[in-house]
Amino acid sequence: METELMNNKRSVMLSEVLQGLSQNPKTLPCKYFYDEKGSEIYKQIIELEEYYLVRTEQEIMKNNIQEIIRTLSDDCFIIEFGCGSSSRICLLLDHMSPAAYIPIDISKNALMQFVKSLKDKYPKLKIVPVCTDYTQEFNIPNLNIDYSKKIIYYPGSNIGNFKKLETFKILKIIHNLCRPNGGLLIGIDLKKDKATLEKAYNDTKGITAQFNLNILNHINNELGSNFNIDNFRHKAIYNEKKGQIEMHLFSKIDHEVKIGNQTILFEKNESILTEISCKYDINEFKELVKDFFEVQNVWTDKDNKFGVLFLKAK
Ligand code: AVI
Repeated sequence: METELMNNKRSVMLSEVLQGLSQNPKTLPCKYFYDEKGSEIYKQIIELEEYYLVRTEQEIMKNNIQEIIRTLSDDCFIIEFGCGSSSRICLLLDHMSPAAYIPIDISKNALMQFVKSLKDKYPKLKIVPVCTDYTQEFNIPNLNIDYSKKIIYYPGSNIGNFKKLETFKILKIIHNLCRPNGGLLIGIDLKKDKATLEKAYNDTKGITAQFNLNILNHINNELGSNFNIDNFRHKAIYNEKKGQIEMHLFSKIDHEVKIGNQTILFEKNESILTEISCKYDINEFKELVKDFFEVQNVWTDKDNKFGVLFLKAK
């Protein structure tokens, strides 16, 4: 059974990777950053001086925690999208006692480890983990509990890693889960000068470069392909027109790579787009969500780098 699942995961990965690399320009799905090593590197990214996102979001949450928990109300039921093994939820749990907490993540290992640590810390909290890909419709188990409303917690500007159509799909899934009277507590990265943004994704220690290149190792490990990471270099570019960081792997030389039964050709300086990370301005974001949500609260830091928003379901 387990092997069957693994084979299925691998064949999905193979077809998505080949599909992305057959496009012009070539792309790879950013979800493949996160094997065990990639998740470890990501933990180092969020500690980097240049990578202000997670640190600033936590600062905003801390500075406004009383108002935030009043907005959510104590007897709500919290569903966190893409918790990974991150303990960001603890700030909320230290200040309120929700009726239940449903952490959702695609990685079973990360989810189980995380739940274990939470159970030790909050023994009275009802925790019901759901291992699923939240970009596809899914059901929440029936918990037989009383609660006032459902709150979706979606921190870290993770929503920024999706293209517009996928973003709509996720907003619709969230809306279906939390309507009629619930809402979404979300973190979004705000538009700012190109230099600050590019520094955040081209750090001087080269950690983001390792993170980006690791996607090729992950693909090699899963699919037996023969990417040589020394043939690629990382560079993140802010596309001002689209308001998004674009993470690229540029081929240093003309070369070819074997994946499954296909040979993929790379020209010198050709790029693979591995990730987009959208940056918003608040009014633009209001417009983006307007079919599903009304923006009720906006909390930011003193430099307006990042936004934490509470959106009420329509
Ligand atoms: C997870 N996500 C919000 C990060 C971002 O900033 O878009 C992923 C990341 N990519 C490079 N550095 C961090």
